[in-house]
Amino acid sequence: MKGLDFVWEEVKVELDKDSYDILIGPGVLTNVGEDLKNKFPASSYFIISDSNVSDILGEDLLNILKSEGLNTYLLSFPAGEASKNMDTVVSLARDMVKKGADRKSLVLALGGGVTGDIAAFLASIYMRGIRCIQLPTSLLAQVDSSVGGKTGVDIPEGKNLLGTFFQPKRVYCDIGTLASLPRDEFINGMAEVVKYGMIMSRELFEILEGNYPEILNLEPELICKIVTQSCSIKADVVSKDEKEGGLRRILNFGHTVGHAIEAASDYTISHGCAVSIGMVVVSRLAIIKGMFSEDEFIRLKNLLDNLGLPTKVPANSDTKTLIELLYHDKKTIAGKINFVLCPEIGRCFVTDKIDVKEVEEAIDSCR
Ligand SMILES: NC(=O)c1ccc[n+]([C@@H]2O[C@H](COP(=O)([O-])OP(=O)(O)OC[C@H]3O[C@@H](n4cnc5c(N)ncnc54)[C@H](O)[C@@H]3O)[C@@H](O)[C@H]2O)c1
Repeated sequence: MKGLDFVWEEVKVELDKDSYDILIGPGVLTNVGEDLKNKFPASSYFIISDSNVSDILGEDLLNILKSEGLNTYLLSFPAGEASKNMDTVVSLARDMVKKGADRKSLVLALGGGVTGDIAAFLASIYMRGIRCIQLPTSLLAQVDSSVGGKTGVDIPEGKNLLGTFFQPKRVYCDIGTLASLPRDEFINGMAEVVKYGMIMSRELFEILEGNYPEILNLEPELICKIVTQSCSIKADVVSKDEKEGGLRRILNFGHTVGHAIEAASDYTISHGCAVSIGMVVVSRLAIIKGMFSEDEFIRLKNLLDNLGLPTKVPANSDTKTLIELLYHDKKTIAGKINFVLCPEIGRCFVTDKIDVKEVEEAIDSCR
């Protein structure tokens, strides 16, 4: 699709009547008003954003939509995972009712994964479901959480325990918004990009290996390329397995161990850093199983190091605690841990034929 002075990349998520497009490029948000007006007419538009993104991008988007004559409101909530709960959902819903939101209204989720999960969950239950469009502004949201239709909030008993599968009508991915994203958040998101390379695309992995300084400098063409390739991989997997019955599990590469590391640190380690360490541990596990080469393991570790991601299991998470946490992960089926292993960079498979002793050995050798 042609914008004013750029070409937007397009990726399609094929899901029969729920199929949708992801539009990727710099300046997508500036041009979104006309597109919404023509393709997604609505009685009112509700931009939902956290307090940080609302200040940086929300007001601008509100003005862009208003200048197209669209009846638009901006609602925000305090930034951070702590807001990802039912209280926030109910409070936003009540604001929407007060402003006259009806079944023909449309929710625009402008922000990172927290905003995307809250806003899409709200859209999925507001008046039994109204349309939602994702406008992801963190790298993690652009390459992962905005695509695939998983929504949800946390409860004290665990993260994402309440949620729905609810596909957005479209995803507008403006890579220009990454300019204001804090550096640590950008690096966190890169863990997911490395994951896509490891599980499905040697080409993507090699782009990262060959261009990490430019990527860390947010060189637009490269960012556009890696976001597009990541979205294509996620779109492909989601199209084949919308509700995580099988193939979608490969997206958990590094995540099962990563979740345990996050929990053991009492969530002081970020998700991206934990996934990075998790990918190193399961790759070591694959070596122990005789399925992955030492050379490729070193390439993975070097890439993560170069991107500023950690590769060692933290000294304060002992192996016994990590093993216990692993067996309590909600993705553990009947006491078996499902691991995603890569026999080589760019290919993976899921297996539960792993002995606990092998997992312990892998964790210990990554300290
Ligand atoms: N639905 C899914 O499939 C899925 C997948 C992965 C993760 N998630 C969820 O995503 C969440 C994590 O997402 P996240 O890492 O984006 O966290 P986040 O939404 O909290 O964003 C991280 C921080 O960056 C700020 N931010 C975002 N975009 C910005 C921008 N352009 N400029 C300045 N600041 C910006 C936010 O205000 C926040 O402080 C978790 O709750 C996780 O459970 C969901």
